[in-house]
Amino acid sequence: MIITCDNCRTRYKVADDIINKPALKVRCHKCNNRFTVYKNDPSDDSFLLQDEISPDDHRIITMSNQKGGVAKTTSCLNLAVALARMGKKVLLVDFDVQANLTMLLGFRKTRSFYELLNREVKEIRDIILHTKYPNLSLLPSNSKMALLKKRYLAQHNFEYLLRNRLQEIEKNYDHILIDTPPSIEFFTLNALIAAQLVIVPTTCEYLSMHGVSQISEIIKVLRGVDHDVEYKVLITMYDAKKTSERVINEKIRRKYGTMLCNTVIELDDKMQESHIVNLPIQYYDEKSRSAEQYQALARELAG
Ligand SMILES: Nc1ncnc2c1ncn2[C@@H]1O[C@H](COP(=O)(O)OP(=O)(O)OP(=O)(O)O)[C@@H](O)[C@H]1O
Ligand SMILES: [Mg+2]
Repeated sequence: MIITCDNCRTRYKVADDIINKPALKVRCHKCNNRFTVYKNDPSDDSFLLQDEISPDDHRIITMSNQKGGVAKTTSCLNLAVALARMGKKVLLVDFDVQANLTMLLGFRKTRSFYELLNREVKEIRDIILHTKYPNLSLLPSNSKMALLKKRYLAQHNFEYLLRNRLQEIEKNYDHILIDTPPSIEFFTLNALIAAQLVIVPTTCEYLSMHGVSQISEIIKVLRGVDHDVEYKVLITMYDAKKTSERVINEKIRRKYGTMLCNTVIELDDKMQESHIVNLPIQYYDEKSRSAEQYQALARELAG
């Protein structure tokens, strides 16, 4: 049985024969939160949850915030490259019609999820491309993806289309990272349903922080329909020289606490330069601040 702490969302594996009815008080190893699940032995007063589910179980990670320009695509690419450099096999999924991720990886005129659903290709494997970076593959996007929304939005269970297709290949990868557009609709809903972990990048600006609240509300709704997804907030492009950013940073910390990634991605000119030459930051300047920060984020998430 999997138990999720209702405070910090850490997940634990507990043998089914230990937890059964009636109610059992448990205590989270990570944040010490006490809450109730069900147990066999009524005399046991409190059961310490210890068998924490490894971060490796976050195989499918979606990057999402409906605010535009908060570094969703940048974080997807550079986190994926950092994981790949740690020896993990990683698949990037470009689930945004803008196809920025596809372009940053140097691909043009590719097939996409559209051709798969339109039965122009047989299997999801047929559209996956090997990038020039070791351990890193891409399921690309193209402009035809815009037609999917119109065609499938009214269809029953349209939000499971991506999850169902990823199930065919997910065992081939240690991590699958999905990039989403700056809106909540067909693509983002599919990506949220497919994910085990949602990373919500946010800059320290009011509107971007509002985007975090919106995603967290949607995730609560998904949990309500038994979809066990966790989320973490990632501060991006942080500029500690600005008073307004320091104030909002503090607000985000107070509001999200343990849901916040320890790693903060700072504003770094090198990142913009790396985009101009179409290189992940680790291949443009591996000693740059942002390269080291994305590597730290990969260690934080993948152990
Ligand atoms: N750490 C950083 N330092 C400086 N600039 C950055 C950093 N991270 C991202 N950027 C810049 O911010 C801009 C927006 O980044 P990105 O395209 O990743 O955002 P996005 O959230 O994916 O946008 P959209 O909502 O349009 O998909 C880009 O110009 C990128 O170069
Ligand atoms: Mg983007």
